[in-house]
Amino acid sequence: MKYEKEINRRKTFAIISHPDAGKTTLTEKFLLFGGAIQTAGAVKSNKIKKHATSDFMEIERQRGISVATSVMSFEYKDMLINLLDTPGHKDFAEDTYRTLTAVDSVVLVVDSVNGVEEQTRRLMEVCRMRDTPVIVFINKMDRDGKNRFDLLEEIENELKISLHPMTWPINQGKDFKGVYNLHDKNLVLFTASTKGGDENTVEIKDVADKILEEKVGERDAETLREDVELIDGVYGELKAGDYLSGKIAPVFFGSAVNNFGVKELLDTFIRIAPTPRDRQTNARAVSVAEPKFSGFIFKIHANLDPKHRDRIAFLRVCSGKFERNKYFHHVRIDKDVRFSNPYSFLARDKEVVDEAFPGDVVGLFDTGNFKIGDTLTEGEDFYFTGIPTFSPEIFKEVVNKDPMKTKQLEKGLMQLTDEGVAQLFTQFGGTKKIIGCVGELQFEVIQYRLLHEYGASVQFNHLPFYKACWLTSKDPKKLEDFARFKLANTGEDKDGNMVYLANSEWFLNTEMQNNPDIQFHFTSEIH
Ligand code: G4P
Repeated sequence: MKYEKEINRRKTFAIISHPDAGKTTLTEKFLLFGGAIQTAGAVKSNKIKKHATSDFMEIERQRGISVATSVMSFEYKDMLINLLDTPGHKDFAEDTYRTLTAVDSVVLVVDSVNGVEEQTRRLMEVCRMRDTPVIVFINKMDRDGKNRFDLLEEIENELKISLHPMTWPINQGKDFKGVYNLHDKNLVLFTASTKGGDENTVEIKDVADKILEEKVGERDAETLREDVELIDGVYGELKAGDYLSGKIAPVFFGSAVNNFGVKELLDTFIRIAPTPRDRQTNARAVSVAEPKFSGFIFKIHANLDPKHRDRIAFLRVCSGKFERNKYFHHVRIDKDVRFSNPYSFLARDKEVVDEAFPGDVVGLFDTGNFKIGDTLTEGEDFYFTGIPTFSPEIFKEVVNKDPMKTKQLEKGLMQLTDEGVAQLFTQFGGTKKIIGCVGELQFEVIQYRLLHEYGASVQFNHLPFYKACWLTSKDPKKLEDFARFKLANTGEDKDGNMVYLANSEWFLNTEMQNNPDIQFHFTSEIH
């Protein structure tokens, strides 16, 4: 294996959570441990507190191309960790879903007070689709949250994943005393601290140790002993293979803002999280160990600052070595391309890189050559599969307000949809251009960007569709008939795939029942 050493020291992952569960706080603590930042408060939350476009635009403009927070690389215990940021706002969930295709594992943060929330559920669905290994961090143990056993049960049921506690909390809220490490069999006492220093660890033989009473009091010591007996009986030892295949998720309890439980989490992550994994393409499986370079674009970020209109395409390296100024094959457009200023994302600075290895993410300046899902190779023709597009849920017709700018509008729509901001459909029963998004905010972003970047002025008219799904059938005649009878509710996406635009859940279910020879898909792979 040519680059074995480089590959084996890399871990590429994302932290996912429902907004406000503590993702930003946990990210910051990780960076503190990694020495990438020195003080708390250095990582800006990319949350959009109010749902107004003006806020969003303002945040984006201030950030410029927000590459610094899109990927954060840092070293910890000789490992190189690539942490990919996932937007928390639900309107940008698609961006998050696609980022998950570029990671090898995830850390899921759950708020102990609120338990499993909607966004978490959807994110886990994406993880399950790819069998992504998950570690769960139950945060905010310093607050009066749900009962620990109920919480585990809720996570298991709602997220359809089996859990395996690695630490166990001693009380909670203002009586939170710390955690017992079930693996190392020691006690970590809770002290509120915002520094990345050592934690207050007490070595004990096991839970029978009398020192327990002295440290946490009689009642909590007794409860802990009972809890541990129960857990040991139920869970046994964690098998690494079960975690790596996405079957079982190890669980940690802590309080990110107090930097408590974070070190256990990070140390275990370093120990068990997967190094870059092999990936599937339409032609064959690509092994990370292959000497020849390959990679794919999973995200394109535009700059809303009119003075710097460039875009950055994020490339995940899958095999071989990416090199600056070397020609690579852009499979979709069948052209050789090279990059003179590729960026890496060490800490918060972006810097030009000369080479990158599997697991790394490189930022490439792009003038419109890239689409999400594009593959680069050293000449071979294949593309990476499994990069999903989801059924949009809000639909609007695009109305051109300035016929003189029709060309600009078309170009703008093509480029913005290539970036994955929204999906574009054309209705069969007419020439209506329909934009489908997962969130209302995206329409405002599109309108703003069409005007400022392409000089095209549009208005959106709401359409009463409930969901779009992709249709396939072994029998092309069935699809033809379906389209003929439902002209107003069928169309095609940008790549010519047939879609059904359902007016309501009832219609969707009825059509599914009435057309057993047609398959209705709620996600579509970009390829
Ligand atoms: P997010 O990125 O997942 O959206 O969440 P973020 O880290 O911004 O955390 C959301 C809020 O929860 C923050 O408070 C943060 O300080 C708080 N928080 C994070 N971890 C813990 C914890 O372990 N215990 C408690 N009690 N709170 C925690 P905020 O008031 O929204 O923001 P800020 O003004 O404190 O920054």
